[in-house]
Amino acid sequence: MPLIIAIDGPAAAGKGTLARRIAAHLNLAYLDTGLIYRAVGMKAQREGLEPVKAAQMLTPGDLKAPDLRSEAGGQAASKVASIPAVRAELLEFQRRFAEHPPTPAVGAVLDGRDIGTVVCPNAGIKLFITASDEARAGRRHKELLERGESSIYARVLEEMQARDERDRNRSVAPLVPAPDAVVLDTTLLTADAAFEAALRIIADRTHA
Ligand code: DC
Repeated sequence: MPLIIAIDGPAAAGKGTLARRIAAHLNLAYLDTGLIYRAVGMKAQREGLEPVKAAQMLTPGDLKAPDLRSEAGGQAASKVASIPAVRAELLEFQRRFAEHPPTPAVGAVLDGRDIGTVVCPNAGIKLFITASDEARAGRRHKELLERGESSIYARVLEEMQARDERDRNRSVAPLVPAPDAVVLDTTLLTADAAFEAALRIIADRTHA
């Protein structure tokens, strides 16, 4: 069995940065599952497709569309992600990646909303990364300004809360920590401190 690390949590909690660092550190393959939902949402909008059709027709090229990481991409993703048939279309690919990570990786890190609960319920390690709404919105706002984009903090906070609300309340695979997930609150942690804390949790669990 490959080592599977599931990392879930709300928007802008720092899951992506953390997951990438853990994957590089432990020689694991990394899959950003949010990017897949973003690609489906933006493809459906761009090509005027029904979301399930967009999921069925998704190509590797769609995952490279330039606007995926925008706020519009996040909102489009969250909307198509609430459709059960869209989630069903994307499930098998994510599971296959986790169970058969591309060589030479000896395992995989997946980040998203339902990795520990639905995609990989048997993952050896499950982390649920969270932080206060204000801390998450503040980090996202700073990141946008640093990228040279315009940003209004109150608007970032409002959009993030709307997206979390939708992700938490949908009928299929809602955002919720798996019962066996370790919750890591990064409100008061730097990115480095969060990484160290995650590595300690992983070491504890793998040597247990
Ligand atoms: O992680 P992200 O912000 O890139 O995700 C964008 C949206 O995609 C998120 O608001 C909800 C959806 N998503 C999901 O429903 N399940 C996942 N495993 C990953 C993302």
